[in-house]
Amino acid sequence: MKILSKEIIAKDKDKDTQITKFVVEAPLIAAKAQPGQFIVVMVSEEGERIPLTVVDKDTTKGSITLIVQEIGFSTKLLGGLNTGDSLYALVGPMGHATEMKKYGRVIIVGGGVGIAEIYPVAKGFKGAGNHLTTILGARTKDLLILEEELKAASDEIHIVSDDGSYGKKGFVTDTLKELLGQGLKTNNYELIYAVGPIPMMKAVSNLTKEYNVKTIVSLNALMVDATGMCGGCRVKIADEVKFSCVDGPEFDGHIVDWDELEKRTKAYSDKEEHICRLRQR
Ligand SMILES: Cc1cc2nc3c(=O)[nH]c(=O)nc-3n(C[C@H](O)[C@H](O)[C@H](O)COP(=O)(O)OP(=O)(O)OC[C@H]3O[C@@H](n4cnc5c(N)ncnc54)[C@H](O)[C@@H]3O)c2cc1C
Ligand code: FES
Repeated sequence: MKILSKEIIAKDKDKDTQITKFVVEAPLIAAKAQPGQFIVVMVSEEGERIPLTVVDKDTTKGSITLIVQEIGFSTKLLGGLNTGDSLYALVGPMGHATEMKKYGRVIIVGGGVGIAEIYPVAKGFKGAGNHLTTILGARTKDLLILEEELKAASDEIHIVSDDGSYGKKGFVTDTLKELLGQGLKTNNYELIYAVGPIPMMKAVSNLTKEYNVKTIVSLNALMVDATGMCGGCRVKIADEVKFSCVDGPEFDGHIVDWDELEKRTKAYSDKEEHICRLRQR
């Protein structure tokens, strides 16, 4: 599992971290992966297993593209690898693929590194004959990724930034609300698909519930084994317990127990911070 190329595509100056694109040799995964699916990577033999979306693939070269935001111990370890280095292990494709069919008018919403996760799905929806409106949101201009690629995959694109440094100032939900309001008067939207930080997906789902538009979200639950055995990625969907890794990662956003998910993703924050501090010494 050799890294064929590495490119830093965004730098977060405030947090001194970056978003990196890796093209990795993985011919078997490239042959099978579908939009919406992910892989699990171990950077080193003692390393933890981290899930990452298959952002793109090249079946001729036998490679897949991963886009990684450094937020903690393992993603920083991965970010430190270079072209020619090898990953210790790569397993996949995992999870259910996105159901690709013609819905009609679709809005796809990506926030932060969630933009990487919507890219293959956007291409799939467009290829299935949908009219695709894309909303991209980033904290600031420097953190916006894949703008040109998503422009090419969409019929219409809207960009927002929290600080107003690029596109419209505000949140993705402001633009989504405007579009849904207009949609009621003209053509209704049949599907909203959203990936991003949990508060963003929760806000999108709460909004679209008011408009009664079907909404799919891809949940970034904490995963350990990613095979349905450890229970680490447990989520409550309409009071039923589901495992994100094998039942998801996509679910109906209107029936996700967002508060529980938010609590579970923060469960090990202190331990993760501790290990990052140890590493810095
Ligand atoms: C199906 C799936 C697909 C994913 N695809 C991508 C991708 O394409 N690119 C990418 O950069 N990331 C993606 N992620 C998130 C990625 O797996 C985590 O960022 C990574 O596991 C964090 O590991 P770490 O050791 O670096 O951080 P940690 O040290 O484990 O965590 C650092 C901080 O981030 C929080 N955190 C950790 N994992 C998550 C998470 N999954 N969601 C929200 N907060 C978290 C922790 O609570 C902690 O506060 C995906 C997650 C899932 C479940
Ligand atoms: S990660 Fe273990 S059950 Fe899903």
